[in-house]
Amino acid sequence: MIFPIDDLQKQDTPCYYYDLGLLRRTLTILNNEIEGLPYHVHYAVKANANPILLTEIKNAGFGVDCVSGWEVQRAIENGFAPEKIVFAGVGKTDKEINYALDNDIFCFNVESLPELEVISDLAAKKGKVAKVAIRVNPNIDAHTHKYITTGLNENKFGITLDMLDDVIDRAMELQNVTFVGIHFHIGSQLTDMSPYAMLCDTINDLLRHLEERGIKPSIVNVGGGLGIDYVNPDEHEVADFANFFGIFKQRLLLREGQQLHFELGRSIVAQCGALITRVTYVKEGKAKKFAIVDAGMSDLIRPALYQAHHKIQNISNVSGDCEKYDVVGPICESSDCFGEDELLPSVKRGDLLAIRSAGAYGEIMASRYNCRPFAGVFAK
Ligand code: LLP
Repeated sequence: MIFPIDDLQKQDTPCYYYDLGLLRRTLTILNNEIEGLPYHVHYAVKANANPILLTEIKNAGFGVDCVSGWEVQRAIENGFAPEKIVFAGVGKTDKEINYALDNDIFCFNVESLPELEVISDLAAKKGKVAKVAIRVNPNIDAHTHKYITTGLNENKFGITLDMLDDVIDRAMELQNVTFVGIHFHIGSQLTDMSPYAMLCDTINDLLRHLEERGIKPSIVNVGGGLGIDYVNPDEHEVADFANFFGIFKQRLLLREGQQLHFELGRSIVAQCGALITRVTYVKEGKAKKFAIVDAGMSDLIRPALYQAHHKIQNISNVSGDCEKYDVVGPICESSDCFGEDELLPSVKRGDLLAIRSAGAYGEIMASRYNCRPFAGVFAK
């Protein structure tokens, strides 16, 4: 990523910088990977719902995966066609379901039997028939942070394999829903592809089982979760889509006419974003030097919440002698720390630091903690 330093100097900080050239390159590579295949990517809006990014993603032809009625609304307001919107989530309220029904979205990813019945009731009141995919919890360990592992029996998501037949039977019985597919999502930030290989095996078994029961879902949705390189973002500025799709191409036995859906979030937007922050003070501690910056955990919560590390660069001084700093925010919590013992070219008050790979789960997870305003946005 090359930073437009003159433009960034003029911005109020903290601010999210989005490199639209990199986003477009990512989208082109992604499109090339799935070209000619019955594969469809629904961008997971939860990763970043900034309208500038959504517009680029829509223009590249992708659909969206939403997990709230407000995300559905954001997608519609930004021009996504309702027939490219899928809606997941364990706790969809009547209001959210009604909004999605009124807008004739493509499909609800249903996570429980009571939800299935509520969708059917609400659709009946409108004289509509809602398309549903059943989210299956395949009990596969994604070996990622426990807060972002979703496909284990102990997680709240989806329907366990032993209950699936009953739920599908009920979906086929109900008049106001149509069963169209099965849906999975095993976790996020997966860099080892073996859980996806296991997922393919599980799906192959399940499709065979359903076939024996005379059921052929037209859609198989395998969710998202492809990880990115937080350590060397410039060496891997585009996620390894070839490797990811390769697993499904080789291993998943789709039946004639079946469509494979994906819900990628992080791998599409993470690397094109950086949180730009200005150094307010350099403080000498007893054993440490602190670079106190004007961004905090309210702007980017991932380090505090998941012990995540985002690469930090001094973009005002790229080649000076390096020193070690703890890069910390202004918020009154010890977890408001972006990095300990960061080796950076010497830092002074007023320097701009870039906190990398922040395009996903950055801006969208911001809070108003300490009554702080939201960071600005600069996209180019
Ligand atoms: N589909 C479903 C049903 C999901 O729950 C998620 C993410 C995705 C797709 C997109 O996953 P991705 O391709 O972005 O990994 N805030 C956390 C990540 C939470 C992910 C939740 N679900 C973080 O900052 O690491």
